[in-house]
Amino acid sequence: MLFEAFERTGVPFEQVYAPHQVVDFSAFEPSPYDVVIERCLSQTRGLALSRVYTAGGAVVVNRPAVIETCGDKLATNAALAAAGVPTPRTGVAFTVEAVLELCERFGYPVVLKPVVGSWGRMVSKLSDRDAVEAVLEHKEVLGGPQHKVFYVQEFVRKPGRDIRAFVVGDEVIAAIYRSSDHWITNTARGGSAANCPLTDELVEVAAAAARAVGGGVLAVDVVESERGLLVVEVNHTMEFRNSVTTTGVDIPARVVRYAASQVVTV
Ligand SMILES: Nc1ncnc2c1ncn2[C@@H]1O[C@H](COP(=O)(O)OP(=O)(O)O)[C@@H](O)[C@H]1O
Ligand SMILES: [Mg+2]
Repeated sequence: MLFEAFERTGVPFEQVYAPHQVVDFSAFEPSPYDVVIERCLSQTRGLALSRVYTAGGAVVVNRPAVIETCGDKLATNAALAAAGVPTPRTGVAFTVEAVLELCERFGYPVVLKPVVGSWGRMVSKLSDRDAVEAVLEHKEVLGGPQHKVFYVQEFVRKPGRDIRAFVVGDEVIAAIYRSSDHWITNTARGGSAANCPLTDELVEVAAAAARAVGGGVLAVDVVESERGLLVVEVNHTMEFRNSVTTTGVDIPARVVRYAASQVVTV
């Protein structure tokens, strides 16, 4: 869809297949591209290449620092907290005792998540202390380095759906409701999408969240709660395939125009 949008808008572009890239730092050359849109499925690879192209003088959408922040839920929450953006009550701890203390503070059920992950994988809703202890033991026995940080969040009683807002630069361009019978509403897990009107509150919260992580082309996950809209996470490689007809907004063309606007003219 992006390639097609490039053709439609007449912005010259090249397709680069990330897994086939070879970087030789001993013969490092400036980037042949003014702007690079990073669309890797692999977050690690996307961050690696965004660093290489940035070093070569290209503007990368999104910038490496933004990928680092959004790719890690702890880093995201730290940035959102510093900017005063409303989120579900969230904490991190490193021992079982400390996690249980946080759970008591937030009240059950709680949600545990890996700090790095997507598509709702390993996002767990735990209704009592026994369940939390069981998950933490599994993490400690089976887990690699990323399971040494325990990320805990209050469970938000939302109305059977949440909101995804699409932000391009300074603008919140569209939003969808994601509805599901399951409390995890990711469309990758079968959640269905419908257009969500852009209210002042949604625009304000989504734009503030995008600014807090450094800005760019971002999808902000938001839940409706008794305390108003709360930001759950910010995604730096946003998926939009099913959202163009749903919202009536030409999201890929907006991304292409934004990328073209980032060309630095000397
Ligand atoms: N604290 C929470 N309360 C209620 N629902 C949540 C909470 N955290 C996550 N969810 C649901 O689970 C989904 C996946 O969680 P999210 O933090 O976005 O992780 P992922 O990176 O895997 O998408 C969210 O889109 C939302 O539907
Ligand atoms: Mg999500």
